[in-house]
Amino acid sequence: MSENIRNSIVPPEVMKKTFEFSEKMRLLNEERRTSLGREMCAYVLTFGCQQNEADSEKIAGMARNMGYKIVDAPEKADLIMVNTCAVREHAEKKALSTIGQFKHLKANNRDLMIGVCGCMVTQEHRREEIKMRYPYVDFIFGTSSLHRFPELLYEKTVKGKRLFCPEENEYLVAEGLGIERESSYRAWVSIMYGCNNFCSYCIVPYVRGRERSRRMEDIVSEVKELARQGYKDITLLGQNVNSYAKDSGLGYDFADLIARLAKIEGDFKLHFMTSHPKDASRKLIDTIAENDKIAKHFHLPMQSGSDAVLREMNRRYDRAQYLETVRYMREKIPDITLTTDIIVGFPGETEEDFEATLEMLRVVKFDMIYSFIYSPRKGTPAADKKDQVTEKVKSERFSRLLELQNAISLSKNEPLVGKTVKVLCDGVSKNNSELYSGRTEGNKIVFFSGEANDEGKYLDIKIDRAEAFALYGNKI
Ligand code: 5AD
Ligand code: SF4
Repeated sequence: MSENIRNSIVPPEVMKKTFEFSEKMRLLNEERRTSLGREMCAYVLTFGCQQNEADSEKIAGMARNMGYKIVDAPEKADLIMVNTCAVREHAEKKALSTIGQFKHLKANNRDLMIGVCGCMVTQEHRREEIKMRYPYVDFIFGTSSLHRFPELLYEKTVKGKRLFCPEENEYLVAEGLGIERESSYRAWVSIMYGCNNFCSYCIVPYVRGRERSRRMEDIVSEVKELARQGYKDITLLGQNVNSYAKDSGLGYDFADLIARLAKIEGDFKLHFMTSHPKDASRKLIDTIAENDKIAKHFHLPMQSGSDAVLREMNRRYDRAQYLETVRYMREKIPDITLTTDIIVGFPGETEEDFEATLEMLRVVKFDMIYSFIYSPRKGTPAADKKDQVTEKVKSERFSRLLELQNAISLSKNEPLVGKTVKVLCDGVSKNNSELYSGRTEGNKIVFFSGEANDEGKYLDIKIDRAEAFALYGNKI
């Protein structure tokens, strides 16, 4: 049954409390600043996906509103927030070991506050682990309690007792928390939260709750403001953006939302992620084709090319349906950049299943793939399957997958040599200080010799060399 979108918003009286705690904390920090003779500083560390990046910008925004200056190193901070990920074991291990390293900072600064939030600590067993084995962590809150951050920080600061915020009864949307954006030209805009799909390998529905969408008017005003500020790349985020507003019963959908956003004035491109193939409708593809402001890039996670594996994954599409979506997309938008996610070594995946995935890569010819070795997630159906693939087979398949895709990516990039592409410049490259880097509309990385002031601008770059994962060229 569809519920009204208004019911999925954190009630105003709860938000009022959030703002009151934020103000109390700000006053406290002002006193501390006067007595210490320096600013109070906060450091926010993020693991995981873009949704977590976006949440961290809200955490930083709330910290700023509470009087903290945002700094780029934990050593400089009076408050450290770790926003964790649970999608694969590797991400959890990294977060735990980083939290472990913060212990010595606490030894140097007894007033340092450490908060842990995000997907990892939304799981009961990880919450317990932090409670027992990381006694210097001051407070924890899960993904449903982002708006409780000021309250937890204030209460812990004033009363000194460690706080483990229980999950809310319902996962709701909190508006107006404040955002401290990392970039002045690329912005994330969450349009929905949670997931209803329960793919059998995935922890997300358990740690981010059911789908709930933001109101269209809230998204429109956020994007209008970003466009007014001169943002160039605006990425709409959700676990499955294609089912935007399906929970609302208001009669509009994701295609209607992007068509509306594409009417906003300004020199920007709209991107979106992630999409589920079962919901990638013709209406959506037509909308992308018809609107110049929508980037000609589709990230459509396929996960596997084997129908048997797709069934076991509970993906609710098969190879034929996936191929039909790609065919229609390329018919309507011939120059679309197509990217995907692939999992290798899902339980029960046979050599034939894996070869079916390789064959799909050869047929579809994705521009880029993001590939992952299957990681069993406690509490998901796939983790209990008896026929787990051995680590050796998983890593051997992973290498074969990459080898094939490298050749395909190169063959997709080579035709761009001699052509001029529009690039949004990200400034001096992090890996090579001689070069500048930027991204095309399809998110391909381009290196070129740039100049100070280029960062954040659209540039025309003539490509003179192509590699599998990068293009090289010069400004024209
Ligand atoms: N193991 C490996 N990869 C996973 N993903 C999600 N869950 C798992 C898991 N348990 C991958 C999927 C998804 C991407 C964000 O992460 O490919 O699309
Ligand atoms: Fe996970 Fe599937 Fe939901 Fe994506 S659609 S978040 S893979 S359950």
